[in-house]
Amino acid sequence: MSGCSGIRDISVDRPYVMDDEELARLFEPRHLIAELTSRCNLRCRYCQKALDTWNALPGRDEDLPEPVLDNVFGALRRLPFQTVQLSGIGEFTFRKDWVELLYRFRDAGVAVTMISNFARPFTERELDALLTLQHLMVSIDTTDAELLKRVRRSVSLANITTNLVQMRMRARKTGVSPPYLRLNAVLYLENMLGIEDLAYYAIENRVDEMQYERMILQTDLRPPHELTDAPPDRASEALRQAQTARDVLTQHGIRPSFHGDLLQTLEASAAA
Ligand SMILES: C[S@@+](CC[C@H](N)C(=O)[O-])C[C@H]1O[C@@H](n2cnc3c(N)ncnc32)[C@H](O)[C@@H]1O
Ligand code: SF4
Repeated sequence: MSGCSGIRDISVDRPYVMDDEELARLFEPRHLIAELTSRCNLRCRYCQKALDTWNALPGRDEDLPEPVLDNVFGALRRLPFQTVQLSGIGEFTFRKDWVELLYRFRDAGVAVTMISNFARPFTERELDALLTLQHLMVSIDTTDAELLKRVRRSVSLANITTNLVQMRMRARKTGVSPPYLRLNAVLYLENMLGIEDLAYYAIENRVDEMQYERMILQTDLRPPHELTDAPPDRASEALRQAQTARDVLTQHGIRPSFHGDLLQTLEASAAA
């Protein structure tokens, strides 16, 4: 039997009536977001992980323990989840058992997406595990190796680049399709004029998408400066670079994405 039920349509802010079965389908749990560790090998200057007070909070600097993981996999068997996104504040590849966990998800029939800092050189075994992913986002704010180290600390551009190349080599050698690969750059005053260079880096590394996003300022940290601190000429140059990046990325079949209010923030600073 099917009936009607109400739900609020937030795009027009009024109740919207739909079929019960359609609504039940929307309520089905399909996509799980899981933070399987809150530990990390880095202490990026703009991230809460850089705060000792944050890490001292309960659960903010530890791996999800084995019995809870068993719960997660038990629930996955009972519920119609199709994908799991491994993210949160922490670095999944910092878990000692991260490779085994990826294969456990694969065996459970769940597609995995994850975000990684790619800071540590991966072994062949780890590269093979990465090739089981559906979607992978790698964090890289700048192609300026010295600036990257200053902001994201224990990370070298060389390691990120080597991992990207080795992953593609491994995919070719084993005949496996690599995951959809997106690079993510968090932008602040210090790296905002590297937008165009990042586009060329994305092209040379043959990724699928180059995403730029604005740094969200966290309290109590000493992060880089915000984009809103940029004088108008610097913001105008960043906007010009964003347009060039969009053009060259598109020409090379790479999706450019400017997340959230990044472009509006640059436009407002350029017009100030
Ligand atoms: C919290 S990290 C977790 C995954 C992994 N540790 C990494 O850095 O890729 C996920 C993404 O959030 C970004 N991020 C961290 N702090 C941020 C902030 N204050 N504003 C905007 N993005 C931030 C990181 O650069 C990274 O791309
Ligand atoms: S690598 Fe990711 S989780 Fe770790 S400190 Fe940097 S942004 Fe935060």
